[in-house]
Amino acid sequence: MDKFVIHGGKELNGTVEISGAKNATLALMPAALLASGESVLYNTPELNDVFTMSKLLKQLGAEIQFENQVLKINSATVNNQIAPYEHVKKMRASVYVLGPLLTRYGFAKVSLPGGCAWGPRPINLHLEGLKKLGAEIELDEGYIIVKAKRLQGAKINFDKSSVGATGNILMASVLAKGTTVINNAAMEPEITNLVNFLLKMGAKIYGINTSILEIEGVDELHPAEIETIPDRIEAGTFLIAAAITKGNILIRGGIDAHLYAVLSKLEDAGMHIDVIGNDIRIDAQNIEPKSIDVSTGIFPGFPTDMQAQWLALMSVADSVSTVTDTIYTDRFSHVPELIRLGADISVQENNALIKGVKKLKGAKVMSTDLRASASLVLAGLVAEGVTEVLRVYHLDRGYQRLEEKLRQLGANIDRVAGQEF
Ligand code: EPZ
Repeated sequence: MDKFVIHGGKELNGTVEISGAKNATLALMPAALLASGESVLYNTPELNDVFTMSKLLKQLGAEIQFENQVLKINSATVNNQIAPYEHVKKMRASVYVLGPLLTRYGFAKVSLPGGCAWGPRPINLHLEGLKKLGAEIELDEGYIIVKAKRLQGAKINFDKSSVGATGNILMASVLAKGTTVINNAAMEPEITNLVNFLLKMGAKIYGINTSILEIEGVDELHPAEIETIPDRIEAGTFLIAAAITKGNILIRGGIDAHLYAVLSKLEDAGMHIDVIGNDIRIDAQNIEPKSIDVSTGIFPGFPTDMQAQWLALMSVADSVSTVTDTIYTDRFSHVPELIRLGADISVQENNALIKGVKKLKGAKVMSTDLRASASLVLAGLVAEGVTEVLRVYHLDRGYQRLEEKLRQLGANIDRVAGQEF
């Protein structure tokens, strides 16, 4: 299990290229199952979660080629509709294959996702939606078994906005008979990327970028090509890296429209932000971050996937701030580790109270999940002395060569491969 060794205190300056979005890719890949033949995903990030999804699609019989960020998926050879526990337990997004397999083959058997470092992360909205479309659903020995000769369009209302459930029902409905309406659909940019891919495959979808999607089922779709959007959470993480080290970074591929809430909070905290086309410059030189309250929300609100990173920045801000996560009630496993670095944070239910400290001091800290580990790396960049972030396999799920990109910006960070430390 690799670790990162970081010598803190270096200001980050320079230019960084943002990779394709993990959470778009994990929806686009299963969507390729909907049409027989080879679909092509451009700007695909080289991440462990993408490799996990590739293994799952190969297990279903698809042919995969992946080089230089170009991912080719040929689903003509799919001959199996069972997603086994060993894949799903590694990555919850595996449940995204439910909708495409069911609507294309009339059957799917997918392991219930295991637990997560935080949650709860149920999939009731996915299953209720499939049921509304006419699927028979059975839970057996930890597997979800869904069957339907042909799904029938239906009116579906989500009590809660859900990215995954919106993606799954969208993919199930494009080949259903008749019209489906999804009310309270998620509007995250990754869903828009998926809608654009489905439209290129010949799907009939109306209401793109809104919370009401109308889908007119068709009998068949054809393979297509799609450009994956840049990863707004990676871009946001680098924005915080500049802010926390008082640096000046140009982020290439940081689409501002995907990050308004984060950019606005960074400006409130005193940072200078310039948007130049699809690039963002953040200048934080000699700027003491102000303590600014944040409450996460669905898009276009402040993303829950940026909550841990924001907490790291607020740990060294000038006074007191609060962070509330309205999406997940207990996504604070990074807090005890930040406290080991000298942060002053207390958590009550889904609220954190952060008293900014003058400095953090390096220590060994443990990653518990993807964004928590990003938060620890950010804190390590500014902590005095050496910070060792253990179990960075969590980080490799969602960041492509993070340590190399940070080193190119001036960080003193090395990956040390090897046994459990
Ligand atoms: C997606 O997860 C992202 N993952 C997550 O990013 C992100 O945190 C989350 O959306 C919220 O933005 C991918 O896209 C692969 P949800 P998803 O369904 O789809 C509740 C990362 O770090 N809910 O939008 O699983 C749920 O408990 C990852 O990149 C139900 O109650 O999230 C949560 O409170 C972590 N029933 C809320 O909805 C359901 O059936 C939002 O969850 C589904 C969800």
